[in-house]
Amino acid sequence: MAQRSLSKIDQLLLGVDKALRAVVPHSNPSTRPLPVSSDEIPELSINEARHVAGLMRINHTGEVCAQGLYHGQAFAAKNDDVKQAMQQSAEEEVDHLVWCEVRLDELGSHPSIFTPLWYSMSFGLGAVAGAISNEFSLGFVAETEAQVSEHLQDHIGQLPPQDQRSREILAQMDIEELHHRELALANGGAALSPLVRHTMRWMANRMKATAYHL
Ligand SMILES: [Fe+2]
Ligand SMILES: [Fe+2]
Repeated sequence: MAQRSLSKIDQLLLGVDKALRAVVPHSNPSTRPLPVSSDEIPELSINEARHVAGLMRINHTGEVCAQGLYHGQAFAAKNDDVKQAMQQSAEEEVDHLVWCEVRLDELGSHPSIFTPLWYSMSFGLGAVAGAISNEFSLGFVAETEAQVSEHLQDHIGQLPPQDQRSREILAQMDIEELHHRELALANGGAALSPLVRHTMRWMANRMKATAYHL
């Protein structure tokens, strides 16, 4: 159903539903299966499993933040085309969220306990970006996806050699994040100032340091 045909109350309820699905584990059905070549679960030592769980918790948090950013940007977008593009991207990111949840379950671990906080902060940031301009908002998406790709590559390099399962999941996510970046740039995303990029990186590093443990 087209968003523009919904009443304000319907749109509000839809927004609340999407927010809850972003922060409550197992509330989203994945539209695609895990992007893995084998059903075999790799054997990891306790320390390896703990480290991989920390990395996957960071990646899950990144996907929660992606949901918040896209929802916030859609909320504040200045025209319907950008609003719908943001909603479409958020829906594509749902698979990533679910894949990280599944792998955390397999590792006997859990998402960050601060998930509602990560979502709320990201929604606020996305809304501010969306309210500034379409070019800034799309530039913000492009920079976010570029930084996510960097940390996915870093995590892939940190995985134990036998954990092909996590490696394949992160590699598929990386391909899609870079595609989201290209789309944002192709749709008019502006280059962000070094100050904004450094601030985003600083915030992402604080989030990663916390989510690895909690
Ligand atoms: Fe993603
Ligand atoms: Fe993405």
